[in-house]
Parts: sequence; structure tokens; C-alpha cells
Amino acid sequence: MTAVSEKYLSGNAQRVLDIGCGGGRLTVALAARGYEVAAYDLNESCIAYVQKRLRRRGLDADVVVGDMREFVTTPKCDIAINTVSTFRHLLSDNDALFHLECTAQSVRRGGIYILGLHLLPPDADLDDEEHWVARHSRTTVDVTMRVRNASRKSRLETLRFTLKVQSVNNHFAIESDFKMRLYSAAQLKSLLAKSDEWELVDVFDYWYDIEQPLVLNNELGDTVCVLRRK
Ligand SMILES: C[S@@+](CC[C@H](N)C(=O)[O-])C[C@H]1O[C@@H](n2cnc3c(N)ncnc32)[C@H](O)[C@@H]1O
Repeated sequence: MTAVSEKYLSGNAQRVLDIGCGGGRLTVALAARGYEVAAYDLNESCIAYVQKRLRRRGLDADVVVGDMREFVTTPKCDIAINTVSTFRHLLSDNDALFHLECTAQSVRRGGIYILGLHLLPPDADLDDEEHWVARHSRTTVDVTMRVRNASRKSRLETLRFTLKVQSVNNHFAIESDFKMRLYSAAQLKSLLAKSDEWELVDVFDYWYDIEQPLVLNNELGDTVCVLRRK
């Protein structure tokens, strides 16, 4: 945040909006660094969990249930962040544009929106599978993410998450499907060009190297756009 403030804002950011905060990974880290944080997510269980995490750490943030298609916070923020493809949960141009519009109402003029999402280069395989394991104390979560029914024509795919959870007295599995919208670099550029409120100022990948801006083109998969509020 300090590097972003130095590069894109005149002065330090004070208030940050974490959009689709999930389990609060960034909300908690930002609150711990002294930012005034507003955060929202559509999922009530996520919000209850983030509030519990904050309480446990003695931290404070304004964390509520909200929908990306309509949520507006006041007072306005200096920076909004939306990471790891949360934006792709918006399944149409209309919903994405509503989101850009209401986020513009939540960010002051000259403020920044950091938008991270995975793009689909034209030569990329539509089928994909990722697997990872996370451990905390004596709990292990084994996650498999599979892409299903991806179509360049409909611009939709389904991400199936299979979680196997193992703790001392318990083990269970959960399977959830999430419909996501696909974007090529050109489709993202064209969407952003339809927004009157945001100007694309820089593009990065998930190495987050602020000294190395990239170009929004078909070479990029994991992409981070820096948008400035006009
Ligand atoms: C990839 S996770 C977020 C991860 C989190 N930002 C992080 O960096 O750890 C995507 C989140 O988007 C939320 N979500 C999906 N559709 C939404 C909507 N229309 N409005 C708000 N949140 C939404 C889901 O509930 C989920 O928690």
C-alpha cells in the first residue's frame, strides 16, 4: 500500500475498501497495518468469520455483507482492492459496469482501484486443474480446483472446488461450483473503455513488481490492473 500510495496518490492512503474480502486475508492484514478498512462480501459466513478474526486480534474494520453490483461505502476510500478473480463472479457486461460505477462512488477522485483477475490468452488450454494443501496447527485442508464447461463463445466457465478437511476429531469433504466469466485482454480493455469513471493507468502480473509495469495483451494470464478514478 505504501508503494502504491507513493506511485499513484498524492499522499498516504488512509481508507481502503476490500471488495469480495472472502476469509479476510487482506482485510485483517490492512487493519493490522493501521489502515481504516471497509470490506464486504456476498457470503454471510465469510463476513461472520472475518469479524471474528478481527475481534480475536483486537482490530477494527467496517465489514459487512454486500453485493459487488450495488455496494457503496461512505466516507469515500483512497484505494479499492479486488483480488484473485473475484471480479469474474460478475457474469455479464451490465453487472461488471454496475460494479465499476458503484465502486467509483466509493472511491474519491484521483483514488485507485487495484483489480486482479485471471485472463484467458487465445492459445491457453480451456481445461485446467490446480491442487494445493494448507496446514494450520493440526488441521489440513486439501484443495483441488477444476475448470469445467469452459466456453470462449459463452465466455463462461465453472470452477469446481473440492476441499478435504482433516482435523484431530473431524474429517469431511465439501464440493462447490462457481460460475465465472472469461476475459481475454481485448475483452477486458473493451469493458474498461465503456466506463466513464475509471482510467487504466498500469498493468502488472501476480509478481506484483511495481517497478515493472507490463502491457495488457495476450501474453498476460494473471493480471493486476491499476485504475484511476477520474
Ligand atoms: C476469490 S474469493 C476472495 C478472496 C479474497 N479477496 C482474498 O484475497 O483472500 C471471491 C469472493 O467473492 C465473493 N463474491 C462472489 N460474488 C460476489 C458478489 N456479487 N458480491 C460480493 N462478493 C461476491 C465470494 O463470496 C468469495 O468470498
